[in-house]
Amino acid sequence: MSELFELGLWQVAVWWLVGTVVVASVWVVLAGQHRTVWTDRAAARWAWHWVSGGPSETERSMVVEVPRRLLVGAARTTAAAAVVAALYRQSGTPWGSGMGTLAAVGFGGVAVLVVGTLLIIWAAVRVYHWLRWVRPLHLALCNVAGWPEDKRPGSWIRVPRERAEGDDGVIVVMPPDWEPREAKKEAVLEIVKAKLDLHDVTATWVTAGRHSYLQVRPREPMPKVVRFADPKVRRLVEEAKPSAPLFGLTRGGKPVFVDLDSDSPHLLLSAGTGAGKSWTLHMLAAQLMAHGASLAVLDHKRHSHRWVRHLEGEGIIHYAADIEDIHETLIRLGEEAERRNRAWDHVDIDNTGAPTYPRLIILCEELNATMHLLKSYWREIRPRGDADLSGPAVRAMRNILYMGRAVKVHVFAVAQMAIANDVGGPAARENFAVRLFTTTWTKNNWEMLAPQVPWQRATGHKGRGFVVRGDQAIETQFLLMTEHEARELVMANRDVRVRPPEDVAGRADASPLGDSPRHVAEPRHVETAPKPVTLWRASRDKGVGIVPLTYAALSKARDRDRAKGLFPKPVVEDPSRPLYDPRDLRRWFELRSQRSSVDAASAEERQRSSDDDEVVVGAGGAAGREPGGR
Ligand SMILES: Nc1ncnc2c1ncn2[C@@H]1O[C@H](COP(=O)(O)OP(=O)(O)O)[C@@H](O)[C@H]1O
Ligand SMILES: [Mg+2]
Repeated sequence: MSELFELGLWQVAVWWLVGTVVVASVWVVLAGQHRTVWTDRAAARWAWHWVSGGPSETERSMVVEVPRRLLVGAARTTAAAAVVAALYRQSGTPWGSGMGTLAAVGFGGVAVLVVGTLLIIWAAVRVYHWLRWVRPLHLALCNVAGWPEDKRPGSWIRVPRERAEGDDGVIVVMPPDWEPREAKKEAVLEIVKAKLDLHDVTATWVTAGRHSYLQVRPREPMPKVVRFADPKVRRLVEEAKPSAPLFGLTRGGKPVFVDLDSDSPHLLLSAGTGAGKSWTLHMLAAQLMAHGASLAVLDHKRHSHRWVRHLEGEGIIHYAADIEDIHETLIRLGEEAERRNRAWDHVDIDNTGAPTYPRLIILCEELNATMHLLKSYWREIRPRGDADLSGPAVRAMRNILYMGRAVKVHVFAVAQMAIANDVGGPAARENFAVRLFTTTWTKNNWEMLAPQVPWQRATGHKGRGFVVRGDQAIETQFLLMTEHEARELVMANRDVRVRPPEDVAGRADASPLGDSPRHVAEPRHVETAPKPVTLWRASRDKGVGIVPLTYAALSKARDRDRAKGLFPKPVVEDPSRPLYDPRDLRRWFELRSQRSSVDAASAEERQRSSDDDEVVVGAGGAAGREPGGR
């Protein structure tokens, strides 16, 4: 055989060695820049495919494929062995030249080449990993940790090739006399993160025997969706404390609860349109209702909470959609809060005889807009000379916000902006100690609602957001409860029914505002007195005309005179539907007629009655009287 190369066997071996080391190093460094140092695995796969005739072409049947691969693999290996054997012959056959020896040298040489190449690549990967990550970390950390610089890094640092991932993640063992102070721990973690270029990780400190060590692992993933329909989630909801509904799950499936009695009585929620604002409110409201809370909804958008809008019965107080109605309802709710608050007047420090009342949830869609509407409504109806610019409804909201916790009245509101000015200054806003963000929000919104916590970018993932409590922001996948599920949850636990669609006018009998608290003055007994009536019923146009005023004029006069303390007290102080003694009302009207203000009122009334088909309703019956019976 003529000379294959100008080189002998040993020269080829040396060139192969040099070439492989150079190529492997360049390859490993390049791969390392793309963070995928799997060069050795790739090389091993290639080697295997080369020797075995692969990769398989899966569309062919195994009967054809297996012999084909065997054949191709054998041919390649034999050809390579022949080249090695030829080189061996060329360099003078030092171990003899029989067929057996040639074959052994040929195939043995191929095996050595393949295994050797893989070993070199593997070594290059190890060296690269050591130089790129382990040694810099060792140098940066040994001072802080208190290990001598010449200690072998491998004896106290373990950095898997995929760094934080892998079975145990990164492990840094501290010397036995290491003092675990918070600042030091933080410094160690910061160095590990900086030197290993890690971002989304959790750090755990473990003490084992005399040593403590830091374990850094990738953060557990967020749940993609948290369905109420999932039995595990349902169990969490069922086992939650009555005062602390399940908000959702955070990383690693840990539940997020917020206790209304200890964390915050009121909630503020911010999100873009269609981000799940109403759904987030209803899943909380439904859970609380299932535990006995009553619910009032202020929804100027009208249809945000259809799941409850057509319910009636225990705990359903009122669904206010028109601004007049929201105005009335808020005043009633404010009075209810006030009444509950006063019920504490005689309670001493040992709390004996403390009043009890059901929790009352007020859902408020679009708090900012609602507050503005209430103010402009008040500007319209404000009596001449009244100095109050924001009006009784806004004032009631403010009072509820202040009293909230003690009286168990909770406002869950959607607000796009800092509502500081709208509900009476930053102090009022501070009563919303828990702020929620879901799906989409802007930096601007975040900084207005939760300025104390660094801004977190919205992911746009449905139901994914943050529960901000104090200066803690918990990433949360909010509980997904459909409207049907919410309604079923309430119906399974409370005595409520779906209102028949035709039962529209019958709504004058709205359910009372919760049970009347113990120790609060019981409603006066009215057996001998005539049956108490609502203002609605007392009005000339809507009811039986106990006083000769339209309902609109009557409510307006009521607001005006109540502020002056001239309007009769209701005999049944039910904020959603106060009932008055008809005799009181008649007496009031007589006295009022004697006052000069009567002229103004009847002028107003005349003007009002001209456009009477515009529905102006009070808290007692609004929900039932809207067009279409919604
Ligand atoms: N926690 C959640 N997880 C996943 N999807 C949700 C969640 N909450 C709401 N959604 C989805 O978002 C849609 C819009 O919700 P909705 O409350 O009506 O939005 P908004 O009131 O903000 O306009 C819902 O129909 C539902 O499909
Ligand atoms: Mg909505």
